[in-house]
Amino acid sequence: MKKYLLGIETSCDECSAAVVSFDPEHPQAPIHVESVATFSQIKIHQPYGGVVPEIASRNHLETVNEMIDEAIQISGIDPKRDLEAVAVTNRPGLVGALLVGVSAAKSLAYALKKPLIAVHHLEGHASSLFLSDATSQSRVHEAQYPMLLAMVSGGHTNLYRMESHPLSWSKDFLKKSLVGRSRDDAAGEAFDKTAKLLGFPYPGGVWIDQEGRGGNPSAYPLPRALPQKSTLDFSFSGLKTAVSLLADRLKKEGTLEKEMKDVCASVQEAIVDALLSKIYLAIREHGCQSLAIVGGVAANSRLRERLDREWKNLGLNGAPLFPQLKYCTDNAAMIAGAGVFRFLQGNYLKQEEYLTLNAIANPEI
Ligand code: KG4
Ligand code: ZN
Repeated sequence: MKKYLLGIETSCDECSAAVVSFDPEHPQAPIHVESVATFSQIKIHQPYGGVVPEIASRNHLETVNEMIDEAIQISGIDPKRDLEAVAVTNRPGLVGALLVGVSAAKSLAYALKKPLIAVHHLEGHASSLFLSDATSQSRVHEAQYPMLLAMVSGGHTNLYRMESHPLSWSKDFLKKSLVGRSRDDAAGEAFDKTAKLLGFPYPGGVWIDQEGRGGNPSAYPLPRALPQKSTLDFSFSGLKTAVSLLADRLKKEGTLEKEMKDVCASVQEAIVDALLSKIYLAIREHGCQSLAIVGGVAANSRLRERLDREWKNLGLNGAPLFPQLKYCTDNAAMIAGAGVFRFLQGNYLKQEEYLTLNAIANPEI
């Protein structure tokens, strides 16, 4: 029998609510997205070149109830009658922004007398793979474990060795399965910072992706850090310096605009190369049987194009798994999805325990 769960996400600059449905009799089946309502604050933060935490919290406060109402309305459910639980991102993120979602979720769950589920934002990204909706089916049934999970977003560049379906994730699954990470900037941050140096608005990943199409990816040699085979870690801070020097030189020569396509293609290639070389190494070192890529940077067209071309050299079955594009960047459907897995494990707070739930900017796990 179909059951429903509401998810709320306010950890950064997307204010989002979603209703998903699931069938406890078939817990391994993909989770169905019934509705998602998202207010993106990107345009509000654009003049500042990045997310301003105080402005983010204020805007979440103004929109969170509207997003919850809209998600419930589109799904057509009666929340009191139909919801099993409310899930909310409580870590990691901007603490003021997280607090808005956590307070909204606590109040709603209290009023409806439903269990409350605290979701780690990165478990949300991992769960985005398991979402289906009216227009597309999750391909996660093709996953073979252990699976390498690459989480590439604006805040994280992490590689995980995923042993099993999320239903058997331990509480500290993220900590236990981490096999590689960025030592400085995240891949999305590297896109955003280099895009800013080249004059593009925030967030720059999508601009570099668009502008780089048709450009020559080897026009400008840019650094690939930590090329040695002994580490699965990444580093992107050197790239930023190299792009800053290159942009200054081309500006002085008056050729930056003319060269922009090639510069963007070269920057993108440096980031994609760094990601793929460690992903391939991790697959081999950890005996992974399949690969999944999640997070905002999973939307990158060059990353997908290179994988399409190079995948067969890895000798694995199937094809790499990606969430649908709309579930790559932050959204509440993935939080509701992670909420379903934790709910099915019995991992939720009862009414008398709600007050123990807090927003945590930098959790240990
Ligand atoms: O997952 P996400 O929405 O937020 C975090 O949890 O960080 O990821 C946002 C990041 C930004 O850095 C953005 O520039 C990047 O994803 N991004 C892209 C593309 N679309 C979004 N990077 C490269 N190519 C894209 N097409
Ligand atoms: Zn995210």
